[in-house]
Amino acid sequence: MKVLFLSPHYPEEMQGFTRGLAEVGAEVYAVGDVPEGQLPAHVRRHLSGYIQAPILEEGRALADLLPIAERLGVDRIECLWEPCVLLAASLRERLGIPGMSRDTVMGFRDKTLMKQRLRAAGLRVPRFARVESASECFEAAEAIGYPVVIKPISGAGSADTYRIDSARGMEKVLRHLGHLDEANLEEFIEGDEFTYDTVSIDGEPRYESVSRYYPKPMEGRHNEWISPAQLTYADPYAQPEIAGGIALGRQVLKALGMGTGFTHMEWFRKPDGEVVFGEIAARAPGGKLVDAMNYASDFDIFREWARAACWRSFEGAPKRRYHVAAVFKRALGRGRIKGVVGLDALRRRCGPGLLACELTPLGEPRRDWLNTLIGDGYVMLRHPDLGEALAMMWQAVTDLKLYAG
Ligand SMILES: Nc1ncnc2c1ncn2[C@@H]1O[C@H](COP(=O)(O)OP(=O)(O)OP(=O)(O)O)[C@@H](O)[C@H]1O
Ligand SMILES: [Mg+2]
Repeated sequence: MKVLFLSPHYPEEMQGFTRGLAEVGAEVYAVGDVPEGQLPAHVRRHLSGYIQAPILEEGRALADLLPIAERLGVDRIECLWEPCVLLAASLRERLGIPGMSRDTVMGFRDKTLMKQRLRAAGLRVPRFARVESASECFEAAEAIGYPVVIKPISGAGSADTYRIDSARGMEKVLRHLGHLDEANLEEFIEGDEFTYDTVSIDGEPRYESVSRYYPKPMEGRHNEWISPAQLTYADPYAQPEIAGGIALGRQVLKALGMGTGFTHMEWFRKPDGEVVFGEIAARAPGGKLVDAMNYASDFDIFREWARAACWRSFEGAPKRRYHVAAVFKRALGRGRIKGVVGLDALRRRCGPGLLACELTPLGEPRRDWLNTLIGDGYVMLRHPDLGEALAMMWQAVTDLKLYAG
C-alpha cells in the first residue's frame, strides 16, 4: 500500500497522521513545500520518500506530482490540510485512484456550494446569499432579516466574520472592510455552537465525536480578553442535548456524498432547541481536537484514520471515558511574558487530569492572538464527570493568567 500524503508535518496534527499511516503498514510518500531537511526527524523516519512541490499552487503542483505519483504507482492520495484537499482530489481523479472526487470535495470546501447542496437535501442551513457589492449587501440583509453575518470570501477564519444588527451596522462594517469583492451574507444563528467530527468509511461514520465551543468562535476571535475553550464529550451518545446535532451530521454526510476519511462539522443549537448547520470540512479538525478525542477515549485516532484511509477498516475501540477540555490563553498586556498566575492551583485541582500545559515561556514575546488560536499557549484537562470537567475548564479560563509587559 503506497500512500501519497500531502503536508506531512504542517499543521502539527499531520505528524500524527503520518505516523499512523506508517503504523498501519503503508509506504508513505510525503509531499510538502519545504526542503526535506526541514522536516522534524520524527516525521522523516516514517517516510519511504519525500517530494518537495508547491502544494499551495494547485496548477504547478499537479504538473509536478502527476508523473511522480504515476511512476511510484501509489494506491492512495490523502490530505487532511484544508488548503490542499482539492489538490489531492484532482490528483486522484487524474490518476484514477480511489477516493472522493473533486466535485464531492468541493461540497466540503466551498461554503456556498455546501449550503446549496444541503438546502436542496432539505436540511436546515442558515438563510444565505452571495453578494458582490455594498448595495447587494443591504438588499440581501433586508431579505434575510437582521441580524446577519458577513463573511468575505477571501477572509481568513472568523477574524473576518462579523455579526451585523442593522443597516447602520452594515455601513460601519462595510467601511471597515474597505473594498468588497465578494462575500457571503447569512442569517445570524443565535445559540450554542458545537462540532460533529467523524472518521467515516464509504460515507458511514465509524467514529463520532462532539465538542462544544465556549464561547462561539466568533466571539473569541473578536475579543482579546476571552480565553477560548472547548469541551469534547466523553460519550456523545450519553448526552441527549446533542442528539439532534449528531442526527444532522449524519444527514449532512449523506447529502454531500462523503466517502472515506475525517470530517469536521460545526453546528448550532438555538435557544428553542432547533439545530442548524454551520459548516463542514473533509479533514481533521484543528485546535487540539484530535488530541482531545484520543484523551477522551484512550485510543489512537491518528492510526485509525490511517487504517480507514488505507484498508477501509476501523479497529479502534474508543473507551469514551473522559470529558476533555482545552483552554487557549492570551497574555494580558504587551511585550514579553513576565508572569503566570493560577497554575499551581490548577495543577492541584486537576491532579493527573491535567494532560498538557504549554504556555509561552517567561521572557518570550507574546504571540499574535489574532493569527493563532493557540495564542500564548493552552492547557488540556480531563475528568470522567462532566460537571467536574467543566469546573476545571472554567478555572483555567478565569483563574489562569499570563501577564506580559
Ligand atoms: N450564520 C451564523 N450565525 C451565527 N454565527 C455564525 C454564523 N456563521 C458563522 N458564525 C460564527 O463565526 C464563526 C466563523 O464562521 P465559519 O466557521 O463559517 O468561518 P471559518 O472561516 O471557517 O472560521 P474558522 O476557521 O474559525 O472555522 C463560527 O464558528 C461562528 O461562531
Ligand atoms: Mg468554522
